[in-house]
Amino acid sequence: MPVRRAALTCCIPSLRTRTSAQAGPGMTRSERGLIERSAMTEVLVLNGPNLNMLGDREPEIYGSLTLADVADTCRTTAAELGWELDFRQSNHEGELVEWVQEAGRAQRDGRLIGAVINAGAYTHTSIALHDAVAGSGLRVVELHISNVHAREPFRHHSYLSSVAAAVLIGFGVAGYPMALRGLQALIAPANEGNLS
Ligand code: DQA
Repeated sequence: MPVRRAALTCCIPSLRTRTSAQAGPGMTRSERGLIERSAMTEVLVLNGPNLNMLGDREPEIYGSLTLADVADTCRTTAAELGWELDFRQSNHEGELVEWVQEAGRAQRDGRLIGAVINAGAYTHTSIALHDAVAGSGLRVVELHISNVHAREPFRHHSYLSSVAAAVLIGFGVAGYPMALRGLQALIAPANEGNLS
């Protein structure tokens, strides 16, 4: 795999620290700031099968940047948004399902903002991933590097779109940071009524 393992599998911590809600009223400003900084929220970017081949794989469709390049860009964008990045890739459907379930729990606990998911070909085949997103309540932006609607008919249907909060398609790998910013827009107070 051309991507640094650490960049792909740094896990959602079980519980990083106290949340800012636990900062007591009697605390000094700097104590409060410390707690708020240490309770930084995570964002998950999940990549499905064959995305570990980015850069080598059909560059005329997916471009020449590697998944490690994409992870670096996402980490920069996440930091700008005040989030820590958890960037993962798997070629295995069950592993992706387990990560979605885990992420749903982290979101419920307030440790995770949501996920950008490029499920690769599982987008078009996986009822299991659909059910995992639906059942976990995970806030998902579905992402595709290529414009799947301009490609083969079997890529036109997505099992994820109906359970995703938003879908971003066809911007190349530049879509990854866009999708992270989209997640932030989704949780902005003005959009609270639209959260899924
Ligand atoms: C993809 C599109 C899928 O149809 C394909 O199977 C992929 C990548 C994309 O990012 O454009 O693996 O999700």
